[in-house]
Amino acid sequence: MVHLEPRPAPHRPAGPVDPDWWRGAAIYQIYPRSFQDSNNDGIGDLAGIIHRLEHVAKLGVDAIWISPFFRSPMLDFGYDVSDYRDVDPMFGSLGDFDALIDRAHGLGLKVLIDLVMSHTSDQHPWFKESRSSRDNARADWYVWADAKPDGSPPNNWLSIFGGSAWEWDGERMQYYLHNFLTQQPDLNFHCAAVQEEMLRISRYWLDRGVDGFRLDTVNFYFHDRQLRDNPPLAPEDRNENTAPAVNPYNFQDHLYDKTQPENIGFLRRLRAVMDDYPGTTSVGEVGESQRGTQVQAEYTAGDDLLHMCYDFDFLSNVYPSGGQVAQVLERYMRIVTEGWACWAYSNHDVVRHTTRWGLGDAAARAYAGLLMSIRGSVCLYQGEELGLGEAYVAYEDLQDPYGKRFWPKFKGRDGCRTPMPWSADAAHGGFTEAHPWLPVAMEHLGHAVSKQERDPGSMLQFYRAMLGFRQAHAALRKGGMTIVAAKDDAISFVRDHDGEEVFCAFNLSDKPQDVALPDGDWTIDRGAPFRVEETAGGLRLPAWQAVFALRRTDET
Ligand code: BGC
Repeated sequence: MVHLEPRPAPHRPAGPVDPDWWRGAAIYQIYPRSFQDSNNDGIGDLAGIIHRLEHVAKLGVDAIWISPFFRSPMLDFGYDVSDYRDVDPMFGSLGDFDALIDRAHGLGLKVLIDLVMSHTSDQHPWFKESRSSRDNARADWYVWADAKPDGSPPNNWLSIFGGSAWEWDGERMQYYLHNFLTQQPDLNFHCAAVQEEMLRISRYWLDRGVDGFRLDTVNFYFHDRQLRDNPPLAPEDRNENTAPAVNPYNFQDHLYDKTQPENIGFLRRLRAVMDDYPGTTSVGEVGESQRGTQVQAEYTAGDDLLHMCYDFDFLSNVYPSGGQVAQVLERYMRIVTEGWACWAYSNHDVVRHTTRWGLGDAAARAYAGLLMSIRGSVCLYQGEELGLGEAYVAYEDLQDPYGKRFWPKFKGRDGCRTPMPWSADAAHGGFTEAHPWLPVAMEHLGHAVSKQERDPGSMLQFYRAMLGFRQAHAALRKGGMTIVAAKDDAISFVRDHDGEEVFCAFNLSDKPQDVALPDGDWTIDRGAPFRVEETAGGLRLPAWQAVFALRRTDET
């Protein structure tokens, strides 16, 4: 598609940028379909985001990450792109995007967009051309392979969304690779022209003023050129971090269909482009169940690859006890010696964490406080600040093809994608006046922003206070971390930065627990939205409470 817009003036704020702002940043993820509808078609849009940006800024986060809004047939709700340089009319226009950037920057928010480079939609003109013959100009832009002599697919690779990763194309008389839907053909990054085009697309958005990218499925860009079969995994080695238990994708060790060594070279090229735009950042989504942490270490080593990777450890179904949190953090710090983590509990792909882990209100606060105190940047998913649980979505209302495929054992991703409840009294929670694309959950109305705004004890106010506390302490954002103690129902650690140490201790249980400050001259900081009691014997944390204490190390 030809784009006639003049090269836009960058919508980047003037003045000095802290090139390191992303280290310790809190990033708020917006799923545009479900945030705010502004034109009453039942689907959220960019103008809706602009309208609600103040809510995000008031939370005290540093940046937003917007899930894809590019032109798309929407079979995977935007993760199937048919034009990387345009906004889907359903979401608005390029002009709306520019206005969004301006508004966000005006409110002090950085903007990250979600680049889906690994695959396109099958409706992308590149794929239409590529499939048309074996010798067209884009013949090798996708991963094409002949059938085996018996007509079956070239190897045993599986799609995350179910079935073989190969789809037969009668026009070209070959199979093409797709790691997700059959309508999401995989781009061939071994082809130099594909890499060039992706770098140009990155520049296009950087020129428009974005502050960086969330890189979808960043380890899926390259495949093994020899198309070797993946070996099976022993049942005890299966890890459900990338796909649900019912999915046979977990039965394989994905040695060859992704995470190939050639990716490093491409990431270095991408970083070189980003370095032309100081103050921009990248968060790579590494979908890799067996070697995820090692891959993160490789992708973030030095300062010429990715800035951060998105970690899946706290997106798992396993309730993270204090001991497990400590294990994840210590393992991460041991393996990812040079990189910087980006943690999340919830996103648009997993059951909301309060439901996944069965957290009540107090427990949800303790875990949120913990997330905002550990070393790394954090992504908060829209609605998390309201304490939303997973919505029940009836089979008739289901939209997600992944859920339809594995229903009922895996219900898909619609339950975390239902619209934001803005107002308890308005139709559809104030999200739209039309019929919403997914129903607004009735139980979410009690958590609506309008209600929580008025209640000083609400979850929303808790998130604001905790984010404010984090902002006030550079050690919590940027500091090192040493675990002091961890057990099933408690964890404590020290964060340190630039002469300041912050001791953090969390009671992860519904019973009071005594806690001792480490040796030294500590002062309790009561600025965090938690309570601690001072007893004759020391400190007592009531159920699900935390304590923060400070000391300077440069004054002694
Ligand atoms: C995104 C999903 C998407 C998939 C394919 C991801 O990991 O987060 O929502 O379906 O990539 O693009």
